[in-house]
Amino acid sequence: RIPLLIDTDPGVDDALALLMAFDDPRHDVVGLTIAAGNVGLQHTVRNALKLCEVAGHPVPVFAGTQEPLLHPARDAGYVHGLDGFGDIAYDAPTRAAEAEHAALAILRLSHAHAGKLLLVALGPLTNLALALKLDPTLPSRIARLVVMGGAVTAHGNITAAAEFNIAFDPEAAHIVFNAFPRTDLVDWEAVMAHGFPHDRFERWLQADSPRARFYDAISRRTRDWAADRRGEDWHSADALAMAHALAPEGALEIAERPMTVELAGRHTRGATVVDWRREEGRPDNVAILLRYEQAAFEARLASALAAR
Ligand code: BDR
Ligand code: CA
Repeated sequence: RIPLLIDTDPGVDDALALLMAFDDPRHDVVGLTIAAGNVGLQHTVRNALKLCEVAGHPVPVFAGTQEPLLHPARDAGYVHGLDGFGDIAYDAPTRAAEAEHAALAILRLSHAHAGKLLLVALGPLTNLALALKLDPTLPSRIARLVVMGGAVTAHGNITAAAEFNIAFDPEAAHIVFNAFPRTDLVDWEAVMAHGFPHDRFERWLQADSPRARFYDAISRRTRDWAADRRGEDWHSADALAMAHALAPEGALEIAERPMTVELAGRHTRGATVVDWRREEGRPDNVAILLRYEQAAFEARLASALAAR
């Protein structure tokens, strides 16, 4: 089985992605490193611990960094609930996070599983950037890096041009995309192209399992927000990234290109600038997912919710 390390900021769609990973027969989740992002670190850590408990997977959880590298950022509590899990006031998790910092855990696990580790980042890239600053040889030990982030044709979801995970910590994203020779990127535009109707999602949520019941509760607020804001379809950014991570054979179309993160820019800070025509002569560093098998994606979602 492939060792899988997930850096995440749960977050309602992170939770769905984690359930998919726990459920997968070809992968072993070796740890969750937790970022601040959707909400503050104290909530994202607690949410991760709670989700592991509900899913019956006592995966080690490592708390990361509270702040982006340079500038304070705006969170997304208005989407995910002020606690990141829909403010349902769940009972406190029975377990605590490990003492080791997330950036150190990333490095340690990269040695323990050198050459084999699948690293999936579902939140701002602060922990990964810190790990790279501590040890720039990290990429040589990672078999594959999958990142949910960016908006490759500048249709942002947090500003006009930028996607949330990158805009939250653009410097960290810049460090990561420069350091890794190739990143599999699942951007916001891919997410928008892989939505599904709310009523279909609600059918999966009716599965008779503790996971489905918990997910139904924590996602209710976000589903209402999305239905008001975006109309018919439900989108799950991190779940699509996880589907691509777990089953790359489902990818139908990928574009490899050079990409960099805009750090200045009055309207474009945090934008992922893709050199579509390769005008600047830089090597390709991202493989952008354009199209994924929709039925396979949805089947994974449904079974992750139904699993016991
Ligand atoms: C991304 O931002 C967060 O709100 C989600 O969890 C996802 O990772 C989408 O832009
Ligand atoms: Ca996320």
